[in-house]
Amino acid sequence: MSTPTLEDFRKKVEEIRKRFPKGHTAILPSLLAAQETFGYVTPESLALISEVLGVPQGILVQTGSYYHFIDFEFKGRHRLYLCTNLSCLLNGAMDLVEHLKVRLGVEEGEITEDGLFSFEQVECIGLCDGAPAGILDGEQHTHLTPELLDRFIEGRRKGT
Ligand code: FES
Repeated sequence: MSTPTLEDFRKKVEEIRKRFPKGHTAILPSLLAAQETFGYVTPESLALISEVLGVPQGILVQTGSYYHFIDFEFKGRHRLYLCTNLSCLLNGAMDLVEHLKVRLGVEEGEITEDGLFSFEQVECIGLCDGAPAGILDGEQHTHLTPELLDRFIEGRRKGT
């Protein structure tokens, strides 16, 4: 797969702007598109979003910073966010954290040597009914188990 260029990304953001023409509704989808395309919101993609949407970069950063799964610095190609608030804690979230440390060979917040993964504990993501829950590459997952995490990691390593 070829590396996406900034021009490819510009087309994506322009498409998003057409789909969400009102107010600032295109901000979040655009930031997510940058995250998906480059692995995080790079300074170049941030500048481009600002230009295409006509929104100051400061507003983009302020908006994006509210969401755990939007990163403004490189944190590995694939990011795993595990909720460790009460419901998740009572349903084995810390076992998942320990499992990831061993499985990935890194501490929380560190990036694996191959640049592929990092993980973090986060506050409640509103999926308490499905505890333990997390966000893996921007997608919400419930009833997480070590086996599910392993499957996710293996899948990403194989590029699926
Ligand atoms: S406590 Fe984990 S999702 Fe709410």
